[in-house]
Amino acid sequence: MSGAAGPAKRQSQLLIVGGGTGLVGRALLEEFRADHAIRTIHRRPSAREIALGVEVLRADVGLVQDWSPMLEGVDLLVNVAWYRSGPDRRFRPLAAGLERMFRAAAAAGIPRVVHLSVPPAPSSLEEELPYLVRKRQVDQTVRNSDLDYTILTPTMLFGPGDRLLTVMLRTMRRWHRFPLFDGGGYHISPVAASDLARIVRVEGSRGGRRTVPIGGPRRWTYRDLTDRLFRALGDPPRYWNWSAARGRRVARLLEVLGSTLIYPYEVDWLVSDMLGLPPYAGLDRPMQDVEPFLDREAARLLGARPAPLPPQDG
Ligand SMILES: NC(=O)c1ccc[n+]([C@@H]2O[C@H](COP(=O)([O-])OP(=O)(O)OC[C@H]3O[C@@H](n4cnc5c(N)ncnc54)[C@H](OP(=O)(O)O)[C@@H]3O)[C@@H](O)[C@H]2O)c1
Repeated sequence: MSGAAGPAKRQSQLLIVGGGTGLVGRALLEEFRADHAIRTIHRRPSAREIALGVEVLRADVGLVQDWSPMLEGVDLLVNVAWYRSGPDRRFRPLAAGLERMFRAAAAAGIPRVVHLSVPPAPSSLEEELPYLVRKRQVDQTVRNSDLDYTILTPTMLFGPGDRLLTVMLRTMRRWHRFPLFDGGGYHISPVAASDLARIVRVEGSRGGRRTVPIGGPRRWTYRDLTDRLFRALGDPPRYWNWSAARGRRVARLLEVLGSTLIYPYEVDWLVSDMLGLPPYAGLDRPMQDVEPFLDREAARLLGARPAPLPPQDG
């Protein structure tokens, strides 16, 4: 063996804006931890980030004025920060902070940017809902910049600890019934958060300036998917059959009561049939179907020992 080691190769520096605690952030940590130095910026660092040796900068993105120290040495910037609901006074400062960041990233010559956005929604929501109005404002800032970017617009994501399918399973287990709006004939194509993290890797290594819609491998009708959730729990499907208008009213009431189960805009978005996006075609492995995930999560809820996860490539 030769004794003299050459100079250590610098690991690529990944900056995750929004951090490694959310659904996508956690999947990004797992995807990139082996071959990237990771820096995160968000408000509540997790034990997992600390254990992985992530450089955590604790801050509210909306309050950061000078981004240059955080952008130093960054090869790939991925933004996941956003809220799921709230009034404009909540979204406005976050959007302004993200816009400052993208302008600073362009000025600093950050080589690649991946920004998480959302699919198109009905025009009434696009025009009035702060969640979407401010999101589009940030998207547009990215598009108007000189950055080399990919904007990803995934449909419903799933993964351990998610706040959609896992919460739906829990609700069905508790009530043995679930609301179905307008019959459930509209579509949804769930995407594994770990597949999305892999897509971030693929898109983060390509040049260009584009927006990429992301669906999972199967386009379900919503009703087939909720039937499958009941089946995972070993229950016959039973529904409260509501109109979308009634669903919206109930969602509004739940929101007022402090529940995060479902928001009124999510009812409208679902029934608009705009969420059944086609699968992403650029992965080096098949995208994960949602069914094994549902069976594992249902087994966990029912107290059975879940089957081990199948091995993942790479
Ligand atoms: N989940 C889905 O089904 C889905 C579907 C389509 C698109 N997306 C998009 O994908 C992205 C990630 O979604 P997700 O489900 O992973 O969201 P999430 O679980 O809510 O995570 C968002 C992260 O953003 C951070 N954050 C929020 N406000 C912040 C602020 N003011 N300053 C700093 N950090 C802040 C939070 O960390 P702290 O609390 O520690 O600050 C949190 O960990 C979002 O842009 C979302 O719109 C999600």
